[in-house]
Amino acid sequence: MSSEKIVITSALPYANGEIHIGHVVSTYLPADIYARYCRMKGYEVVFTCATDDYGTPILIKAEQEGKTPREYVEYWNKRDLEDFTKLGISFDFFYKTSSEENLKLTQYFFLRLYEKGYIYSKEVEQPYCEKDKKFLPDRYVVGKCPYCGAEDQYSDGCEVCGRTFEAGEILNPRCILCGSKPVAKRSLHYFFKLSLFSERLKAWLEGNKNLQSEVKNYVLRWIEAGLKDWDITRDITWGVPIPLKEAEGKVLYGWFDNHLCYISTTLKYLESKGIDGKRFWNSARIYHFIGKDIVYHHYLFLPAMRLGLDEEYALPTAIPTRGHLLLQGQKFSKSRGWYVSLREFLERFPPDYLRYYLSSITPYSQADVNFDWREFAAKINNELVANIGNFIYRVLSFIYTRFDATVPKPRDPDDLDKELINKMKETTLSAGAYIEKNELDRGLKTIVEFSTFCNQYFQRKEPWKRGENAANCLYYAANATRSLAILLHPYIPYSTEELWRQLMLEGSVGMQRWDSASDLLLEVGHKILKPTVLFKKISDEELEPWLEKFKGSKPSG
Ligand code: 2FM
Ligand code: ZN
Repeated sequence: MSSEKIVITSALPYANGEIHIGHVVSTYLPADIYARYCRMKGYEVVFTCATDDYGTPILIKAEQEGKTPREYVEYWNKRDLEDFTKLGISFDFFYKTSSEENLKLTQYFFLRLYEKGYIYSKEVEQPYCEKDKKFLPDRYVVGKCPYCGAEDQYSDGCEVCGRTFEAGEILNPRCILCGSKPVAKRSLHYFFKLSLFSERLKAWLEGNKNLQSEVKNYVLRWIEAGLKDWDITRDITWGVPIPLKEAEGKVLYGWFDNHLCYISTTLKYLESKGIDGKRFWNSARIYHFIGKDIVYHHYLFLPAMRLGLDEEYALPTAIPTRGHLLLQGQKFSKSRGWYVSLREFLERFPPDYLRYYLSSITPYSQADVNFDWREFAAKINNELVANIGNFIYRVLSFIYTRFDATVPKPRDPDDLDKELINKMKETTLSAGAYIEKNELDRGLKTIVEFSTFCNQYFQRKEPWKRGENAANCLYYAANATRSLAILLHPYIPYSTEELWRQLMLEGSVGMQRWDSASDLLLEVGHKILKPTVLFKKISDEELEPWLEKFKGSKPSG
């Protein structure tokens, strides 16, 4: 019998800057927790990602650094993967939108949609620099904001007042390459008839019960208000060339090809394993994890393009969407320094601390999440150290010192032991059910409550009194530490692997079956290693520099 197939992707980071902890919260961490959980359920999982390599901002930055765009994106591709790996994001494959495979698939989609009449062309006016002999799309034009008067704003929106506008509205426009004033020049552009898909999109949204209803509802309102056709053309050379003779020198807009890279990357990985990628894709549950800023693209463009090919590539099962991360109550801003890169964070704290804290505060909704340094330290110190870590260390060191590092033989379980056994079973079921529904924060909460119960169990059994209770207590408690290793693994993979090692269990915890967390599989007579503490308290001194750097914070809440 073949097992359930799962495809998991997380939104592709632009290959032009480092990953920060804001990216992690909505997209990479939830996708990773879900992927790790699904693997432990025994599903066949493919978890992929890639860098989003095309687009004018990347081309401009490469030009500024005197590199070819290809050299430039290769650098970020490598760096991003290093950062993700340090955080324990367990991609099966990390690739790039500028791959040969993605180029082929994108051109195939374009041609199919074009043949079917879903893409049409028309002449439009575009800013053009006569000195550079170039069209100037998007960020190639800067000028003064027509609303607030701020200087040096891009032609598509103002970073000072937050308004967006059309390219023609910017005041005193100039070419960012040479400073001269652009002229308007006609160019042939290709448009995707998004409006034609309104009914089919509506039916898909309404029929798909796995989509979050709050997101679905506002996407349905956009459809009601009327969808606009979508200009998918850029007059630049960095991108997927439009595969038509009359479109020479034009490429497709990055949002046309980037989500197709979910498919091309997943198929490439599967095919490298000798698996029929398309068949796998079409028989799998498909999850695209994203942040709420790209809902429009993922709930409209992405399904419309797949519908346009009559679902030759299946539509997503769900598009888990989460909110933004605030830092001490304020928006992240790289230019204002209100920002923590993932790399910087991981130089100071273990990856599991970030994973634990973010998992515990991030709901399965559009609500923004607030990173608060004091709350971070409190969560780590009170939950990870004083609750989970305390229980595990107490149990393992008790066995090590008083039972010669050997799991003791229990007598028949008493009522309290039975309660512990039941809690193990219940927690495995209910935490699993939450994770399955993507309610990852609630899954974690359930597991932490189980750990609280375990501490109480240990306290109530008073094994230090040495009576017959002691062997029972340590046998059942040791099994509870094994269950905790499994249940917590999707959230804190590094510490649970270390726990697995200290328990001297075979293989890796990530390879265990989730459901086996219900069972008493740590056997009588099993030997363990001398334990060391898994989690260390965050001290005031460690916290101080961060509080200093981000002071003037608004109260969170
Ligand atoms: O918004 C972004 O950062 C984009 N690079 C996300 C792309 S996701 C996808 F659809 F490829
Ligand atoms: Zn110019």
